[in-house]
Amino acid sequence: MLVTIEGIDGSGKSTLLNGLLEELKDLNPVFTREPGATWIGEQVRRGIKERINPVAEALLFVADHAAHLDTVVRPALNADKLVISDRYTDSRYAYQSETLKGHIQDPKKWLLDIHNGWTIVPDITFLLVVPVEDSLGRIKRERTESEHFECKNVLENVQQNYLELAEKDPRRFVIIDAKKDRDEILHFVAGIIRKNNL
Ligand code: TMP
Repeated sequence: MLVTIEGIDGSGKSTLLNGLLEELKDLNPVFTREPGATWIGEQVRRGIKERINPVAEALLFVADHAAHLDTVVRPALNADKLVISDRYTDSRYAYQSETLKGHIQDPKKWLLDIHNGWTIVPDITFLLVVPVEDSLGRIKRERTESEHFECKNVLENVQQNYLELAEKDPRRFVIIDAKKDRDEILHFVAGIIRKNNL
């Protein structure tokens, strides 16, 4: 089963994932992430830092996804493992719909088309939703460097894109109010994963 965790920067994904690592130990899940699980993911981080052309950046994210499927996701699913990914395709739909504005005529359609036919759709996607002011506060407290996505306008639109995706696919998405107590969120999410992993 493929589970993905999504949300804007500073929405508490890392806290949730660290909790799941402990909480779901007995299920022996494969924890993975985008970008970062492949060497292309490292180039994506470089691209983000150097603020390369948005189309180039988007294509690097897609290349990382393709390699991620081949090297981590597909082999684990074929071995009947539980896979939990910190970000996945919905990150592209939510973020690159913003970054590609003005560079590509219809970014949402372009992004859907470019993934069509080869990506693997997750079984469950948990979407952490938080007021953007709170997420920016958390980013400021926890990090020394910030990425170009991390400003109010961009994150507002990214979160809106996420919510639209969730509205279109309510069977796959579980929306989480990220302002709730962290243990409450952890037990809720772990409970749903366990129930669906039978
Ligand atoms: P991270 O902070 O979760 O490691 O992700 C790095 C940044 O990359 C984060 O600001 C979200 C962004 N991102 C995209 O813009 N598109 C994508 O497809 C992915 C996976 C991440």
